[in-house]
Amino acid sequence: MPKFYVTTPIYYVNDRPHIGHAYTTILADVLARYHRSLGNDTFFLTGTDEHGQKVEKAAAKRGMDNLAHCDETVVRFQELWKKLGITNDRFIRTTQDFHVEVVQKVLQDLYDRGEIYKAEYTGWYCVGDERFFTEKDLVDGKCPECGREVQAIKESNYFFRMGKYQDWLVDYIKTHPDFILPAFRANETLGFLKKPLNDLCISRRKSRLAWGIELPFDPDYVCYVWFDALLNYVSGVGYLQNENDFSRWWPASCQLIGKDILTTHSVYWPTMLKAMDLPMPKTIFAHGWWLTGNAKMSKSLGNVVNPMDMIARCGVDAFRYYLLAEMSPGNDANFSEESFVARYNSDLANDLGNLLSRVNKLTVRATGGAVPECGALEEIDRAFLGECDAAASAMRACLDEMKLDQGINAVLGAVRAGNRYLEQCAPWTLAKAGKTERLHTVLHTAAEVLRRVAVLLSPVMPDKMTELAGALGIHAGEIGSICDLDGDFDWSGRTMKEIAPLFPRILEEERKDAPKTVAPAKKTEPETPLISIDDFSRVVLKTARVAAAEAIPDAEKLLKLQLDLGGETRQIVAGIAKSYAPETLVGKTIVVVANLQSAVLRGVESQGMLLAAKHGKELKLVTIDGEIPAGCRIG
Ligand code: MSP
Repeated sequence: MPKFYVTTPIYYVNDRPHIGHAYTTILADVLARYHRSLGNDTFFLTGTDEHGQKVEKAAAKRGMDNLAHCDETVVRFQELWKKLGITNDRFIRTTQDFHVEVVQKVLQDLYDRGEIYKAEYTGWYCVGDERFFTEKDLVDGKCPECGREVQAIKESNYFFRMGKYQDWLVDYIKTHPDFILPAFRANETLGFLKKPLNDLCISRRKSRLAWGIELPFDPDYVCYVWFDALLNYVSGVGYLQNENDFSRWWPASCQLIGKDILTTHSVYWPTMLKAMDLPMPKTIFAHGWWLTGNAKMSKSLGNVVNPMDMIARCGVDAFRYYLLAEMSPGNDANFSEESFVARYNSDLANDLGNLLSRVNKLTVRATGGAVPECGALEEIDRAFLGECDAAASAMRACLDEMKLDQGINAVLGAVRAGNRYLEQCAPWTLAKAGKTERLHTVLHTAAEVLRRVAVLLSPVMPDKMTELAGALGIHAGEIGSICDLDGDFDWSGRTMKEIAPLFPRILEEERKDAPKTVAPAKKTEPETPLISIDDFSRVVLKTARVAAAEAIPDAEKLLKLQLDLGGETRQIVAGIAKSYAPETLVGKTIVVVANLQSAVLRGVESQGMLLAAKHGKELKLVTIDGEIPAGCRIG
């Protein structure tokens, strides 16, 4: 059975997790879920980096013992991962005894074999980055990484003979095009390796920094935090403890990192593995950064996005979907509330939510809910199923190429094709004309495509896709794997029930009420493009008589209206409470958009929208000149 071992960086416990940490971990989770779904033997490791100066300082600031500080802060990560539905197989903490033991064994072995040696060190030290630099590394006399002041240092230290692996590493990168991805990151590493590669100082004097793993051959020193942290990738799967586990999982298939930690992973880590005589991971993949307002997120700018806030506001799955669909993994992406709402409303509420709700309603109307049998397929059905197959193949290819955003887009393409398919086959007309067999075939085909979409998007939105499948009469355990997507699914006896919208639209009203967590993006001038008569004719406007109206508790602008649309009753929520008292509305004939997909506003379903003219804060309902029955089409 093919295996898949995926890792994330282990995160520092000096701070709260933010959207960047959440992204890497969700990406790893989605990959792990896809590989499990493909039937691959999968292991997913994440955890926390608990030694070193950053953590020591954070603990000191809180007046706490180092480990007690770690014990407290690690929970923030563990809880967030639980909330986000992360399915890691192990959570490693570098303060755990087994990890400390492995690090010490590796250090001792490398020391015994002369791969680590002691030497007098004279140079410069950056406290912030915990790194040593030579005179020529400095930029304007400052740290080349962070630009801060550096301290002159003269002391004995221990060094790992990294420099001797330089030629080997250059050759390995050149001959293994999948080793460091995207390819431009491999080039970046090769650029770095054009300069002579120094040996790596792997010790810190306890007098300067005591919070680390003690060197087994010199108790005056602790191990450099990166040397300790990188080893989590092997200690986490049994290295030097459980050889069966280790040979089952190592080498890793995919090591995900952010672009900020490329050098440690593309230079330090491979040379360490080489010295330890271990095979290289198949791929180290460096993704880009999440920015806000095109700027780096930072506490001082106050633009750090807190994942907990986003989950509270939009739900776990929508957040997972947004992060994966919005970022092409190698590049940076910009987070803004506007782009979140736009993507949510267009992909999830409009395209996917709408397709499900149409198929659901049409089936309930046609058969009372039973998913009908499929009759003879016509060309249009085969073409539609073909589009869905193509999307599934695209998703699999994109998975291997780490282009998840494109895979998701391909699946959404099939969803959009689904909405077009319904327009073209017009099942409502088939029902009226009594063409039952054809009607059943169309509804069956649409349900089958929705099932496949649920399978394909389930790693990204596990809970929502379980709900979607449930709406089709498929239980959670039956969603199935990507492998048997095209196999014959047994639809017999499946029944749909009427459902609430899977992804209720986020309306302007609700966004204004929401607390702001991110810096607002620059407003651009709204465009008013011309539309064709065909575009306009897609909007169904009808007359409606107000049968009842009432206020909605705690929503001072909203009213709930019961409307008569000529035999059909609809409930609409409208933001007109400041202009109309509910009792003045009853009996009025107004104009509504009758084919707007439903949305939930303040927990109340709205099945359409009324028309009103706005002048400043004043609203006036669009009404009809003279008597006309309710339910008449306007155009
Ligand atoms: N502890 C080290 C990693 C050791 S791995 C052996 C570390 N930790 S960290 O807490 O700073 O997390 C770094 C990782 O968080 C990045 O590599 C990246 O995966 C993620 N991100 C942090 N900020 C980010 C963004 N703004 N955008 C995307 N991801 C970024 O470095």
